[in-house]
Amino acid sequence: KQRVFSGVQPTGNLHLGNYLGAIKRFAELQDSFDCIYCVVDLHAITPDMRVWGGPAELSRNIREVTAAYLAAGIDPTKNIVFNQSQVSGHAELAWVFNCVARLGWLNRMTQFKEKAGKDRENASVGLYAYPNLMAADILLYHATHVPVGEDQKQHIELTRDIAQKFNNDFAESIAANGFGEAYFPLTEPLIGGPAARVMSLRDGSKKMSKSDPSDLSRINLTDDADAVASKIRKAKTDPEPLPTELDGLKGRPEAENLVGIYAALSGTGKEEVLANYGGGQFSTFKGALVELAVDRLGPIGGEMKRLVADPGHIDAVLRDGAARARAIADVTIAQVKDIVGFVR
Ligand code: TYM
Repeated sequence: KQRVFSGVQPTGNLHLGNYLGAIKRFAELQDSFDCIYCVVDLHAITPDMRVWGGPAELSRNIREVTAAYLAAGIDPTKNIVFNQSQVSGHAELAWVFNCVARLGWLNRMTQFKEKAGKDRENASVGLYAYPNLMAADILLYHATHVPVGEDQKQHIELTRDIAQKFNNDFAESIAANGFGEAYFPLTEPLIGGPAARVMSLRDGSKKMSKSDPSDLSRINLTDDADAVASKIRKAKTDPEPLPTELDGLKGRPEAENLVGIYAALSGTGKEEVLANYGGGQFSTFKGALVELAVDRLGPIGGEMKRLVADPGHIDAVLRDGAARARAIADVTIAQVKDIVGFVR
């Protein structure tokens, strides 16, 4: 079986974009791949502490992401579910990759530019080196596929560049150690479906995000039915009725977003949604979307709340997952040490 690795940052406000772009798809892949799903807590501390909220908040958010994985149907006995900080190989391999990646490559990362904003001098070194740690997450397990939302595409491309440069730089040593032509795989992103980029409910030109100051911009996985209903009813739309064909969504980002969300939640495509609701008023469609969203998200939010209320089970899942992840990671780290020439 080929291997999938992916991760979600424990930074609070898990939302519909995280679910449709990532977590729901994680669960769908568990039968066809050998899957490792990580709560990337080392990544979560890259902003300023005032942003990530401090130790108590971090612990709470780690458990919340784990709860979302389990509530979405990820089976922690079939897959590996763990938090990144508990497997030291992530940080070790990231250091090697800090020395493989070039400044010019990181300077092109759009997520760093967005997150650092204007005050770049004050951004943490960790925020800058973040993509190297992400490459380490993936390559530590020789993952062949990474399911992510559209916004992570550039980071997966960088992961491939790092793998390629490592394979080239150490080609002789890789061969001499018996690993053949290449040590790391060139990992493929799995991005797609109608909700690879879920947009803000208030502004169709911005993606739905954990950090948007307006809570009305996103549907949180722990929102209750009333909140889901009122956010969808208040979602920005245009005055035209829904089109009957895909073409008619061009230039109508808010309409396209809601149609994409409906399609992803119902497991169909935008075409089918338009075939059913095209030509009708937005209010009718929004009513149907409310019903669908409450039906699909309600049980997940409920299960998340139940799981975090008594974190014993979550903590046991994470401990068991970390031990199993470590068994794979330790082998990679030993091999990388041999390839680089560190004496052990
Ligand atoms: P993070 O925590 O920001 O987001 C987790 C996942 O949710 C997806 N996502 C979205 N998908 C669709 N529409 C949206 N509006 C939306 N917002 C977020 C993200 O694409 C992601 O798949 N760098 C990663 C975490 C990471 C990782 C990794 C991922 C660290 N190491 C290794 C994969 C493999 C991040 O910040 O995701």
